[in-house]
Amino acid sequence: MNDQTDATFVYLKHPVTGEICIYPGGFGQKHLDSAVKYEAKPTDIFVCSCAKCGTTWLQNIVWLIIHEGEKICGAMMDSIPMLEFSGNEVTNKIDDSKYPRIVKTHYKYDWVPKHPTAKYLYITRNPKDAMVSFYYHCKGFEGYQCPDLDFNKMFDRYVKSDIEFWGYFDHVADWYGRRHEENMLFLLYEDLKVDPKGEILKIAKFLGNKYYESLMKDNGKLLQAIIEKSSFSSMKVVSAEIISTKRPENLPFIRKGEVGDWKNHMSSEQSKIMEDLIKEKGDPSGWSSLWDNHENRAYEVSKSIDDISSAAGQAKSTMSQFVQKS
Ligand code: A3P
Repeated sequence: MNDQTDATFVYLKHPVTGEICIYPGGFGQKHLDSAVKYEAKPTDIFVCSCAKCGTTWLQNIVWLIIHEGEKICGAMMDSIPMLEFSGNEVTNKIDDSKYPRIVKTHYKYDWVPKHPTAKYLYITRNPKDAMVSFYYHCKGFEGYQCPDLDFNKMFDRYVKSDIEFWGYFDHVADWYGRRHEENMLFLLYEDLKVDPKGEILKIAKFLGNKYYESLMKDNGKLLQAIIEKSSFSSMKVVSAEIISTKRPENLPFIRKGEVGDWKNHMSSEQSKIMEDLIKEKGDPSGWSSLWDNHENRAYEVSKSIDDISSAAGQAKSTMSQFVQKS
């Protein structure tokens, strides 16, 4: 009998390189063997992330943009395969004759199939909130076999990256380092929360000018519809329909959707462990400052107010460069 206070993962081997990849419990070698055979198509759109960073939200937004506001019918997984689970055959079966195929993946950068004209969106979220969300995620999914999951045990595994798909810290660093690549868009969950309109327009522009223009037509009617259909409350209502995996009623997939929920869960010692890790892993490439501009920052360093407003100024000028460039 498994220890139901600790999550179950499986350790799988890449069939060619022999590299080990941790998968959630319930997956098997056949999933990995099939997934690594998938070849990216020229029009593919990859929605990439670490678990619990807003992947489903972004999938929905991308879907709504390319399908002109038409909502996904039935389980999201049937229309947007998760590469590491659905594998090569199922992913290839998704009809891409009329609309580009959208593929979800938690694989690290090197493992995601590449094509020079395919598009790659990466979303991340402050790791403290991602950890808390991951805790509830594991508790509610049968595959992890841990209905009594202990928060502290999960915290320890999370900070050691002893969880699925290489964990959070190196994953983000890797993708962040590629954020300037032409076919890549790096997004923050917290930005989507603060400014859904601006972020949805940014995503549409990245996907193609024709999408951006149709969002702006008729006084932004389609844009407004997409904001509404991708809001937390709308997604919560349809979640039983779009999330195919069964979960206990008290542990829904579309759970709380808030920034800063970690404050309700982590001890100050745990918060400090996270802060140190964010600094250690994030300072070299700079991702540690991603949330400096947000009211509820990922970590609470003693920065002066001058530093914060200078970061805000820099972000504003980066944004205006983006708008001018696009
Ligand atoms: P919480 O557990 O903090 O509520 P993923 O899709 O990567 O697994 O991420 C799931 C997280 O995104 C959950 O976070 C979920 O509630 C949140 N989420 C999903 N849709 C959202 C939306 N429309 N607005 C805000 N948060 C959303």
